[in-house]
Amino acid sequence: MPKEDEFLYGEFPKNFWWSVATSAYQVEGGWREDGKGLSIWDQFSHTPLKISNGHTGDVACDSYHKIEEDVEMLKSLKVSHYRFSISWARVLPDGTTRYINEIGLNYYERLIDALLAANIMPQVTIYHWDLPQALQNIGGWENDTIVQRFKEYAELLFQRLGDKVKFWITLNEPYNVLMRTLGTAVPPPLLSLSAGISIRPGQAPYVVAHNLIKAHAEVWHLYNKTYRAKQGGLISITINSDWAEPRNPHNQEDISAARRSLQFFLGWFAHPIFKTGDYNEVMKTRIRERSLAQGLNQSRLPEFTESEKQRIKGTYDYFGLNHYTTVLTYNMNYPAITDRSWLNSGSSWLKVAPFGFRKLLKWIKEEYNNPPIYVTENGISERGASDFNDTLRTHYYRSYINEALKAIVLDGVDLRGYTAWALMDNFEWAEGFDEKFGLYHVNFTDPDLPRHPKASARYYSQIINCNGFPD
Ligand code: NOJ
Repeated sequence: MPKEDEFLYGEFPKNFWWSVATSAYQVEGGWREDGKGLSIWDQFSHTPLKISNGHTGDVACDSYHKIEEDVEMLKSLKVSHYRFSISWARVLPDGTTRYINEIGLNYYERLIDALLAANIMPQVTIYHWDLPQALQNIGGWENDTIVQRFKEYAELLFQRLGDKVKFWITLNEPYNVLMRTLGTAVPPPLLSLSAGISIRPGQAPYVVAHNLIKAHAEVWHLYNKTYRAKQGGLISITINSDWAEPRNPHNQEDISAARRSLQFFLGWFAHPIFKTGDYNEVMKTRIRERSLAQGLNQSRLPEFTESEKQRIKGTYDYFGLNHYTTVLTYNMNYPAITDRSWLNSGSSWLKVAPFGFRKLLKWIKEEYNNPPIYVTENGISERGASDFNDTLRTHYYRSYINEALKAIVLDGVDLRGYTAWALMDNFEWAEGFDEKFGLYHVNFTDPDLPRHPKASARYYSQIINCNGFPD
């Protein structure tokens, strides 16, 4: 058996899915075209000083006009799947089904047809952060009417695209929906406080998470009950998580800090959906204690009713995981740290620590009763001048994919697919175009936005070709 730190040089299981991802706001552009409504990111990126260098996604990679070019890249990578998201405001300009923007919907129909013609299967994210501004104006994810709105939007997609789409992701990274909406991590699309929703101080992230979980569960049930038999696809949620490693593996406090960190990060959403229908005890106890200590008379964490718990529990067909990096924990009251020996990336939060990927996959297997897992994002950023010879990214993919293989072969994790983030350089949210995650370079100074493969694109396509390691 190979040692921990050795490469396996082995093959992945037959029929393993190899995919690559983007999301609507990050690549599409066409922000006001053909009747598209505004999203919170259109609004936010046009607010002075919010985005690095004043960048916006108005044009981005212009994928709205470049189906052919995008599919060409996918063909040369030889991926079996392509993960992209639908812009809610492109198909429903005011967020509701009162008016369906057929031209916007047609963009996705054409993209899906082009993919299928190339024998590439679509993996469609229903919500990747670009909420219609009209819904934000009435409180966005803080207003529980969003659950019904999200369900209607998803139903439209099942009706119109479901014959061709066999893999759905309800929500991308719910943790970041609330962090990036509420401003803890990244300057956010600001909340509308005008909607008259009464939320106690400090409670907003918990309310947003509560509604996200309910919205996910309702859409899963809708698909399960009405569309699954006819359409035969899979539907679930994509949750992001770093691996939390105790700084000192023999220190009890560090170990419990790691556990708390995982339960607050990934377990916030995974515990209700994949385990019990309810929040985990680590969160319940800690938030209650803190709320009471701060003089509130009850916990900030909302409660699910018994029937909501029954409805939420088990609403998954697979575990969708986005993973990039690892942190070292030593005390929940301090921010996690990293190890100085880990390589840096172009993002402050992302260090290269491949061992955490395998550990996280194994943890998910054990914690959630061995679900089928699809990695729906993994990748690394670089900054500065374009580097076609992106050795760091190639190294990252080689070592992370190797850890995924170890998880399958050595730990028996039921990993079914892997997705690289991203197909091409794109709009990295508040960082604008400065942080580049692409396998393909996009020349943003040329109005035609030409795409060219980096060395990592060639390496990834060799992995796909070999269904494992070429070297
Ligand atoms: C997670 C998000 O889903 C994606 O939109 C983002 O660009 C990448 N991670 C990199 O930060």
